[in-house]
Amino acid sequence: MSQNAVINVDGKSFELPTLVGTENEKAIDIAKLRDLTGYITYDPGYKNTGATKSAITFLDGEEGILRHCGYSIEELADKASFLEVAYLLLHGELPTQTQLDAFESAVQKYTVSNQALLNIAQVIPTSTHPMSELSALVGLMEGQYSTDEKEDNILRLLAALPIFAAWNYKKSIGEAIVAPDQSLDYCSNFLKMMFAKPGEAYQVNSIVSKAMNKLLILHADHEQNCSTSTVRLIGSSHASLFSSISGGIMALFGPLHGGANQAVIEMLEEIKQAGGETAKFIAMAKDKNSGFRLMGFGHRVYKNFDPRARIIKKAADDVLTALGVQDPILKIAQELEAAALSDEYFVARKLYPNVDFYSGIIYRALGIPTNMFTILFAIGRLPGWIAQHQEMMTNKEPIGRPRQIYVGATPRAFVDINQR
Ligand code: CMC
Repeated sequence: MSQNAVINVDGKSFELPTLVGTENEKAIDIAKLRDLTGYITYDPGYKNTGATKSAITFLDGEEGILRHCGYSIEELADKASFLEVAYLLLHGELPTQTQLDAFESAVQKYTVSNQALLNIAQVIPTSTHPMSELSALVGLMEGQYSTDEKEDNILRLLAALPIFAAWNYKKSIGEAIVAPDQSLDYCSNFLKMMFAKPGEAYQVNSIVSKAMNKLLILHADHEQNCSTSTVRLIGSSHASLFSSISGGIMALFGPLHGGANQAVIEMLEEIKQAGGETAKFIAMAKDKNSGFRLMGFGHRVYKNFDPRARIIKKAADDVLTALGVQDPILKIAQELEAAALSDEYFVARKLYPNVDFYSGIIYRALGIPTNMFTILFAIGRLPGWIAQHQEMMTNKEPIGRPRQIYVGATPRAFVDINQR
């Protein structure tokens, strides 16, 4: 049973309601705090702010637990297909075979190239990062499809992201695009569009498509992270789903968020070039003046281990062995992890490898270029973003609009320009 919290401020006592979630997560409802007391809460980075109630994903950072609609990430990554997990996030229940078949067919139906968007994609300079291009194309979908077609637009987005990604890759290597293949499953179609040579037969390697399926599932949702909060915030102004997802892609791009998977490989390459001396990089990461962080380490919520990282670490070993790939960077990553995990600095701050630490090693083994790693994260996260946007709209959440503590100049008279 929830009880009231009592806050004492300026010599007065006020009661605020509390709420408890289904996993016993507790919150003080401060919606009336300012009206009652004149105070707001101050929480840069929203480190301790619950911005919504959500029934999609549960995460316990202390215990290293991640569940979608009650199902553990371990089981989902092991037993489900990516579109099955997408369905779960969007509908709250696992699909029956009939429902899954219908959902897959519906996504396949929209697995087509949009000529107007292709024309635009082809003139975007190759100096543009793939994430910027992806965000732009998703934003431009708004001009192609009616925003009233809500259900269809969800399917269109799921179908479009792999297509946009493959266009970008083909352009970067100067090859003609390969048309989407509606007869293939989600991951196999993506791999074919990426790696088939135009006009030549292409056999999808099942090890590669299974690995990709697992990686996409591991990224599918992660409750109120930076990009998801961005999607919800944009959507809260009643901007369209396309606009919201476009913004989410840009938030994911940053190296402290999804962009970390690219940054990890660049860091591991740098360590390799420097002779594999991990100790030097550990020392740099501990030195606050160096401006260097151990990429792929640390997490706002996980303070024990990141369950996704555990699964990915094992998958990296398995995939490289199955594909017969020997990547010296894997050894460097393992040494770096072991060194960090036995170092007082990382232990005291509860810094562990996160989802991005080993994922890049798998992407590399699958032949994905480094600057497209975060694109893979975006394709994986898409169903989560859509589900969270949908939930926010269904619950009719108000526009997101934090407050601030103003610390600037107090009133002063305007000074004429030639007297400044
Ligand atoms: N290397 C060295 N020190 C670190 C690191 C790191 N990777 N991460 C955190 N710290 C230190 C930080 O300097 C601080 O030390 P102190 O208490 O002495 O000031 C302490 O640990 C707490 O860090 P914080 O920056 O307050 O934590 P945060 O919750 O604000 O940031 C983070 C979380 C993920 C942004 C951060 O750990 C980081 O920058 N990691 C590297 C980038 C990365 O791998 N990002 C991917 C995150 S997982 C994928 C996703 O969902 O986006």
